[in-house]
Amino acid sequence: MFTRPFRYERAGQYTHACELLRTHGDDAKVIAGGQSLLPMINLGLVQPEVVVDISRLPEGRNITVDADGYLTLGALVTHARLAADACARAAQPLLPEAASLIGNSRVRNRGTLGGSLAHADPAAELPLVMVALGATYEVTSGHASRSVGAEDFHLGFFTTSLDADELIVSVRASARAGLGLELPGGVTTGRGLRDGVGGSPHPQRRGPGRGGTGGRRRGERPAGAAGGRGVGSHRVRGCRHREPDRSDPSHPAGQRYERDRTVQAAAHPRPRHQGAGRGGGTIGTSRVSESVTITLVVNGHRFTRAAGAHLTLLRWLRDEAAVTDPKYGCGEGVCGACTVLVDGEPVSSCIVLAAQVDGAEITTAAGLLERDGSLGPLQRAFHQCHAAQCGFCTPGMLMAAAALLRAEEPRSRDEIRAELHGNLCRCTGYGPIVDAVEAAQRERGR
Ligand SMILES: Cc1cc2nc3c(=O)[nH]c(=O)nc-3n(C[C@H](O)[C@H](O)[C@H](O)COP(=O)(O)OP(=O)(O)OC[C@H]3O[C@@H](n4cnc5c(N)ncnc54)[C@H](O)[C@@H]3O)c2cc1C
Ligand code: FES
Ligand code: FES
Repeated sequence: MFTRPFRYERAGQYTHACELLRTHGDDAKVIAGGQSLLPMINLGLVQPEVVVDISRLPEGRNITVDADGYLTLGALVTHARLAADACARAAQPLLPEAASLIGNSRVRNRGTLGGSLAHADPAAELPLVMVALGATYEVTSGHASRSVGAEDFHLGFFTTSLDADELIVSVRASARAGLGLELPGGVTTGRGLRDGVGGSPHPQRRGPGRGGTGGRRRGERPAGAAGGRGVGSHRVRGCRHREPDRSDPSHPAGQRYERDRTVQAAAHPRPRHQGAGRGGGTIGTSRVSESVTITLVVNGHRFTRAAGAHLTLLRWLRDEAAVTDPKYGCGEGVCGACTVLVDGEPVSSCIVLAAQVDGAEITTAAGLLERDGSLGPLQRAFHQCHAAQCGFCTPGMLMAAAALLRAEEPRSRDEIRAELHGNLCRCTGYGPIVDAVEAAQRERGR
């Protein structure tokens, strides 16, 4: 849990992030959702000197389907958003379906498409699906961009054709590509293969390219762009979804982003420096810092602290703000003991940097108390149903339950189990916990 300090820079644009990667070489790591990188840092498997945060870039978050039936996904689209996007589901159901199977809801809330593809874990869903669909990735080094087919990009286990200063910006897949698989709900992805329509699973097999040289350059036709006959595939025309919480100024996350962008625009024509404090160093036009000043509203109370940029949200809450109800269990996003709500979404606070969520509203189990300090309805239900024994998992379990209770529709017992499957309890057994969530749901009249 006590990771080696590193310097932190929040990139304002992809160009800026690439410039930092060029300057720092192997010492730098880009962080997007952090759902693969931070477990590795926590375990000491990776020890970067500089972490370049692209998770709050304003670009790279759109989901669009054009009139030719191509689905384009920004690299920062989260798994949860991809899984829930009706536009993407209509165009290419295999991708949202695969995204919905990833990890647990906390991983899906933070993990990004670009991070999953760049990490290239052989066990991951999305790289495999992209290869099967003959997708192409748009990659940039800031100076130049290129398109590379998924099959040329993924060179092996955890190995890609990305150059050291390159980042994935977006992904493009044909809505007509597919494997003829039947998905739950009777949806079939099999469109076009037998009829030779674009987007074949082997669209552009090449020799073993390295360093991206096998990829096509910008301006060439994308894999499968030859199109072909319609074969009855449906098309979703002009569908364009923007990530709602980043652009909606009425949403806390949207306000945060707007505020950041205003400050950046006013103070720095280039992306601004992140935080102030000791240990900073200058890189070209920007500065990286070991210490960052972070403001978080935790259970309605505002905390502003200057602390190490390497602190996870969990450590920041416990060590800097003395909010100790989230617990440290695994440090890998698996057990759920550290679950908190960030702007209403459950996340594993052990694998999110506090600096990444600067300005957010955090809710922990203590935030479920009534104003007079008595137990809130969900906490009472846990108490009455004997849903805790040692209580170690309980703060995280409560937050996962609180998130699911906000759904419009009541959840069935099976759905409650499915939602809570990423929160582990080693002593109570899950029956009483599900009883408690059902009881709280009933009390709310659902
Ligand atoms: C408990 C748990 C369970 C999981 N289960 C599954 C699962 O079932 N299936 C599955 O597929 N995945 C699973 N994952 C991994 C998850 O999908 C991650 O979200 C994903 O692998 C990485 O995405 P990220 O945005 O969090 O990337 P990060 O962790 O931020 O980064 C991962 C790597 O990609 C690089 N990177 C990030 N973004 C870019 C970019 N745009 N361009 C270039 N490089 C970039 C980073 O430098 C880093 O090397 C699991 C993770 C956890 C913690
Ligand atoms: S401690 Fe965070 S998920 Fe286990
Ligand atoms: S109550 Fe002991 S781990 Fe869940």
